[in-house]
Amino acid sequence: MKSYSVKELLEKQPVGDVVVINGWVKTFRSNRFIALNDGSTIHNLQCVVDFEQFDDALLKQISTGAALKISGTLVESQGKGQLVEIQTTDIFVHGKADPDTYPIQPKKHSLEFLREKAHLRIRTNTFAAVMRVRSALAFAIHSYFQQNGFYYMHAPIITGSDAEGAGEMFRVSTLNPKNPPLTENGEVDYEHDFFGKETNLTVSGQLEAETYAMGLGKVYTFGPTFRAENSNTSRHLAEFWMIEPEMAFYDLDANMDLAEDFIKWILKYVLDNCNDDLQFLESRLLDEEKSKPQHERSEMPLIEKLKFVVENNFKRVSYTEAIDILKNSKPNKKKKFQFPINEWGADLQSEHERFLVEKHFNCPVILFDYPANIKAFYMRLNEDDKTVRAMDVLFPGIGEIVGGSQREERLDVLQQKIKALDIDEKELWWYLDLRRFGTAVHSGFGLGFERVVQFATGMGNIRDVIPYPRTPQNAEF
Ligand code: 4AD
Ligand code: MG
Repeated sequence: MKSYSVKELLEKQPVGDVVVINGWVKTFRSNRFIALNDGSTIHNLQCVVDFEQFDDALLKQISTGAALKISGTLVESQGKGQLVEIQTTDIFVHGKADPDTYPIQPKKHSLEFLREKAHLRIRTNTFAAVMRVRSALAFAIHSYFQQNGFYYMHAPIITGSDAEGAGEMFRVSTLNPKNPPLTENGEVDYEHDFFGKETNLTVSGQLEAETYAMGLGKVYTFGPTFRAENSNTSRHLAEFWMIEPEMAFYDLDANMDLAEDFIKWILKYVLDNCNDDLQFLESRLLDEEKSKPQHERSEMPLIEKLKFVVENNFKRVSYTEAIDILKNSKPNKKKKFQFPINEWGADLQSEHERFLVEKHFNCPVILFDYPANIKAFYMRLNEDDKTVRAMDVLFPGIGEIVGGSQREERLDVLQQKIKALDIDEKELWWYLDLRRFGTAVHSGFGLGFERVVQFATGMGNIRDVIPYPRTPQNAEF
């Protein structure tokens, strides 16, 4: 008697063999058909029970959510819907799931309801499919970089720096908040704190990754990232995962080439390896779309959309060109944008990014050369003294999926920038050292992992593509 996962069993189909399988009951129909799933695949295994052979007391314990071990002979299925099924000879109940209190019943539950049951939602088809795709994407990301000469670098999670300069950080402290030590001025004295200074959870591993790129050549980070921004949107989390490649001797063009190739490669990987889950997610989306008004429905089914991105060039457009397009666009002229575009220098909101991607170009867009004053301090200043070598990759339905840049490698220019922004140079002494010793052109970018999972699975809300979402006022589980 050999033990199998549902996936293995459906792939190998050892018809005639006696097999053992463990899993959770999806449904139990007519006291006769158990659909068992163990998480290995979207498909269930049908186990046929001859109820005359089993105790009533045992059969009563079998309901949706119960964990079972089933043994029996694998046979070709008599019914429709599956090729093989188990003719059950033995049932062991690992654990029951009382139908009166088990929340995940075989019916449609709203995603909002399931968020409140995040510890059990992985037992639904939707979440299991999403999380399998998430896992495949993580593997694809490592594979891509490992195959292309990059080294995986672990950036610290507790840091003293604010890489993005946005001040949206979670403090890390062991001081007693009720009675912290104070300085003579009455301010909290962090010299007495655990690290002897103010520290926070990282908002980006980039600055540390830069130091490693300047020794290992090409590195990438892939880790958790924390932002205390109070944005309650379907695209923002307070704790998310980011992938940050950083490359010595890459200019912005090489950086854009890499970002495009990388994203296409990992999406292709999902197309090639997650077909069952993608098909399920696609039909789920088509179902969901039926209840939406026509103009909100997406033009392409999920798999076609992924193929489109993999097979077509991203459109590269400078910020200046984009502003011209937006200024002259219909929604701008008709005052349909919440933030009208009047002049060069305006920061782009997601409504503008989505107009460019979804209405104007109809494909992923890379915007580059942004105004210096709307971007972070470390980006390389262009000869015009106004713009920096920044790039954002914008995706349909998502908006910004990647943010990156060529880095300022000139010590004097970087020092001036730091001064102008009132950043304390002392805090960045080590970062400035890179420009003192063997400086070189270098570039990198950050991919929001959950946003790419959203794109690959078609999930509308970022809270549904991470196991336990952290958002304002919410850190349950
Ligand atoms: O554009 P961002 O802020 O860039 C950086 O952090 C750079 N240090 C990256 C680099 O050059 N190494 O963030 C990068 C990406 C965004 O494009 C977005 O996809 C994602 O991270 N992101 C978030 N994802 C979920 N929730 C949030 N609150 C996010 N903030 C950024
Ligand atoms: Mg950004």
